[in-house]
Amino acid sequence: MSALAEAVPEALLASSRSEALHGEIEVPGDKSISHRALILGGLASGETRISGLLEGDDVLHTAGAVRAFGAEVERLAQGEWRVRGAKWQSPAGPIDCGNSGTGARLLMGAAAGLPISATFIGDASLSSRPMERVLAPLRAMGARTEGSSLPVTIHGGDLHGISFVNEKASAQVKSAILLAGLQASWPVEVIEPAQSRDHSENMLRAFGCDVETKDGVIRLGNQRALRGTGVLVPGDPSSAAFPVVAALLVPGSRITIRNVMVNPQRTGLFTTLREMGADLQFENERSQGGEKIADLSVSASDLHGVEVPATRAPSMIDEYPILGVAAAFARGRTVMHGLAELRVKESNRLAAIIAGLQACGVDAREEGDSLIVEGLAGPPPGGAQVQAHHDHRIAMSFLVMGLAARQSVSVDSAEMIATSFPNFVSLMQSLGAPIG
Ligand code: S3P
Repeated sequence: MSALAEAVPEALLASSRSEALHGEIEVPGDKSISHRALILGGLASGETRISGLLEGDDVLHTAGAVRAFGAEVERLAQGEWRVRGAKWQSPAGPIDCGNSGTGARLLMGAAAGLPISATFIGDASLSSRPMERVLAPLRAMGARTEGSSLPVTIHGGDLHGISFVNEKASAQVKSAILLAGLQASWPVEVIEPAQSRDHSENMLRAFGCDVETKDGVIRLGNQRALRGTGVLVPGDPSSAAFPVVAALLVPGSRITIRNVMVNPQRTGLFTTLREMGADLQFENERSQGGEKIADLSVSASDLHGVEVPATRAPSMIDEYPILGVAAAFARGRTVMHGLAELRVKESNRLAAIIAGLQACGVDAREEGDSLIVEGLAGPPPGGAQVQAHHDHRIAMSFLVMGLAARQSVSVDSAEMIATSFPNFVSLMQSLGAPIG
């Protein structure tokens, strides 16, 4: 748990109307890549050096878990970690995944492949999230499982192959199957009608594993032994989303965010913002450790409403809360389709976005799995205390709202921000944002 979380269990933060934001920042390392680097490093032979690891609570729980399975996990300096892989053992006690669905689901997959037993626990939010989506395919591969939400116990080993259709376009489910599949008999394949983020495939290849991706099918090859390697974690686009939208909304702003990952499976928000009229450029596009990265340059812009197709949801699934805020300032209506999965994130995000927007004086509603926001063509009233429902992305989104709304906005559960973006407040303050 972070220092903030320990000191203020139900922390309140507030933001108020900001002067123009200016400056150059880097956001912390990508959360998806950080979890995967620790897990693959823990399973691999030899040493893995990780630079730029996100030291948020979610990832620290995964580091503790990999250690509990028997790997050596050491923090050498800020963001610099060394993992020495080992043959995983049944842990002495339960594996605490904290608030992290990614940590829990990927670790369950990794454990299922091995002849060990482990019990997974987490906080109240994680304990209410569905785990059957991962457990059903793991059972189909031969694992035994107890419980359908946390606490869940997995008895692994002796798995056979699977051909799984990833209907929910969930990268966590795909990754759990691929990790379990490292030890299963051939074939192991995941069929994706809609592509989900491909960090597991990219990183498995970097660790020496044969992974073929063709026509929407991801298949493990014969070479599945992992060898430790170096991992450079790029900036998290899901964290960059908050300063990006803040700079778009606060008049006169111009900021640069360096070293942000721009993997096309993660940039749906940036595409949508550009369609809304955002002045948002990718500069110095380059490749680093198998991922595309760029510097983002953003200037305040007048936005207009758009229709966001359901097909884009997998590439911006964590960004709807902040898009909902941007849409409130836009001219005209924004409609976002295909959001069923938002109901089972760290909170029911669809409900939390709508309640937060309404509290700030914005007309927002759901119709089926779509979210409709009536933009005000300028600053909404604000002046509310928004309930973040222990959800980091809801808390950060409404703090951004407060920077450009007419009156300040406060959020509860601000301690949860430490799960993914521990220095959010200080980084935003360094751009000139009054958050405190
Ligand atoms: C993640 C996948 C997404 C995303 C989560 C991180 C990952 O979840 O919401 O924050 O690292 O694989 P789903 O796979 O459930 O869509």
